[in-house]
Amino acid sequence: MAIPLPRSYPLRLNQPPSHPKTVETTLILFKPDALHRGLVGQILARFENKGLQLVGMRLMRMSQEVAAKHYAEHIGKPFYEGLVGFMTGSPIIAMALRGPDAVAVARRMMGKTFGIEAEAGTIRGDYGCSKSFNLLHGSDSSESATRELGIFFPEGLEDWAPISTPWVWDNE
Ligand code: RTP
Ligand code: MG
Repeated sequence: MAIPLPRSYPLRLNQPPSHPKTVETTLILFKPDALHRGLVGQILARFENKGLQLVGMRLMRMSQEVAAKHYAEHIGKPFYEGLVGFMTGSPIIAMALRGPDAVAVARRMMGKTFGIEAEAGTIRGDYGCSKSFNLLHGSDSSESATRELGIFFPEGLEDWAPISTPWVWDNE
């Protein structure tokens, strides 16, 4: 018996994806506490299980300059100095994740800003109860994502086509 395949399946192999309009790419930062606590694999698995595609990944130290660019909207706020100290103190991992409505999907998966308030079932809700350390950053809009991806991946992203894509993205 023939295995039913998504209509687009044979066309997708080894070809750049032909994205439906809602597919976007978001910037996720695994913050220092995620690395210190050894949670990178578990958290990444959640994003992978959801069907978000990894199109960029980089272990790095965030410099003061990059922090100031990335957190420009927060400069001058009471928590800004502490935030920059936290983010620049030890390595982070920058990831670019792609999928349908990836910005909103990732934000929903992350939950509210701090684990103490985040719903159970979200990443922050399941992995923390700190009011300072919150494991992840996720872009908050398509425009922010474009700006932030430019900061962390100035060389661009890897546009590849996982063979699972037609099974998880509903793309035509
Ligand atoms: P993120 O940017 O990290 O994804 O988090 P978010 O949108 O939920 O929060 P945002 O308001 O953009 O704040 C950026 C980061 O600053 C720290 N923060 N501290 N002490 C405070 O009141 C406070 N507020 C924000 C957090 O690390 C937050 O993720
Ligand atoms: Mg934010």
